[in-house]
Amino acid sequence: MKTIIEPFRIKSVEPIRFTTKEERAKILEEAGYNPFLIKADDVLIDLLTDSGTSAMSSDQWAGIMRGDESYAGARSFYRFEAAVKKITSDKFIIPTHQGRAAEKILFSILGGKGKYFAANTFFDTTRANVEFSGAEAHDLLNEVGKHPEQRAPFKGDMDVPALEAFIKKYGRENIPLIMLTVTNNSGGGQPVSMKNIKDVSAVCKKNNIPLFLDACRFAENAYFIKLREDGYKDKTVLEICQEMFSYADGSTMSAKKDALVNIGGWLSLNNDRLAMLCRNLLIVTEGFPTYGGLAGRDLEAIAQGLEEVVDEHYLEYRIRSTEYLGEKMLSNGIPIIEPPGGHAIYIDAKRFAPHIPAEQFPGQAITCEMYVEGGIRACEIGSVMFGKKDENGKLIPAMMELIRMAIPRRVYTQSHIDYVAEVLIEVYKKRNELRGYAFTYEAPMLRHFTARFKKI
Ligand code: F0G
Repeated sequence: MKTIIEPFRIKSVEPIRFTTKEERAKILEEAGYNPFLIKADDVLIDLLTDSGTSAMSSDQWAGIMRGDESYAGARSFYRFEAAVKKITSDKFIIPTHQGRAAEKILFSILGGKGKYFAANTFFDTTRANVEFSGAEAHDLLNEVGKHPEQRAPFKGDMDVPALEAFIKKYGRENIPLIMLTVTNNSGGGQPVSMKNIKDVSAVCKKNNIPLFLDACRFAENAYFIKLREDGYKDKTVLEICQEMFSYADGSTMSAKKDALVNIGGWLSLNNDRLAMLCRNLLIVTEGFPTYGGLAGRDLEAIAQGLEEVVDEHYLEYRIRSTEYLGEKMLSNGIPIIEPPGGHAIYIDAKRFAPHIPAEQFPGQAITCEMYVEGGIRACEIGSVMFGKKDENGKLIPAMMELIRMAIPRRVYTQSHIDYVAEVLIEVYKKRNELRGYAFTYEAPMLRHFTARFKKI
């Protein structure tokens, strides 16, 4: 087979700033050893997130100029609505400025004390929105998804018997909604199978509970279904997306991922009364229902991005380039979540630096060293992000200690990725010298964004 090439050529470039190792050591110290607090100009390759970091196409930039900025009923809204409906078939499409704005609206209305929600795994903002409403969020990931070293095609699947037990325990009247995150970001960017979506949907229908997709990476999920699930090889990605959404009653979406834009989102749903309540809250918090916190030009760029993201040459390149980085890690002995996910490679910090206990945040230690060694910014997804405390203030560690290297869409070339691999190999060689970290400041919620640390 020939090399899978980037299915685009580059029209506009952005320079990146080079720094020395000594400079980076100082920058990191000043940032309290938290890569979130480093200036982007001081980063060489930024793998902090694939969210809002996509390169837009010439057609999307042309759409920016075409955007209709009318307050109500803008042409760009109708183009956006049609593009979202083509994929979701949902009756009501409510634009929001990003994913968490859709979550905030949905869970403010459905949540509250005494309510219980379940997902394969809630993303951190989604969980925070559920908990902020006073409700509880439960992750019901299938067993294989909890084992980074085990290979399986659909490690994002929900545990269906656990879902049935959950409904029995808490009572269907106290469960306003079940959610499937596709792909499962916090669990390694692993896909959910069509069979699992269908099975979860059947349980939800039987119990009269709506099923929503957290659809951020729906196209990547659909492409994995095409590659890995029987019966989907000859379907188009668009058809697979449409089938995925057909089993759900609605979706929340961060267009900053699989709509290939820098800002935007939506809440889609079919229930008339819920849509009315959501739109009313939208007007208070986001804006009028035909722009929802976005400019007309943003809606135009999303509509165009949704056409481009289901292109199979794009998805082949996208999934392959992530896998390429994963293979480089594995062939050098670096432990990652296997198989590679869609949008990111997740390093398994527990196996990378087993001498650093969870209380000293091994993921943070490796992330900091990646920055100093090669100017790469990645993100800890472990006990800094998801650790809890017991009544004595002692850490309850996260299920996994991971570092996410998220790949922005259409931004970096193969040689950038080769460089990332070289830096990681260097850090891995020195793994026994890595030291843990302790908090010097932590906020009560979503602490990873603003925390400061000291070296132990
Ligand atoms: N759901 C999932 C699965 C996500 O990955 C994100 C964002 C959101 C919801 C919230 O969307 O950022 O537009 O408000 N994930 C980003 C990330 C931040 O880096 O993975 P948002």
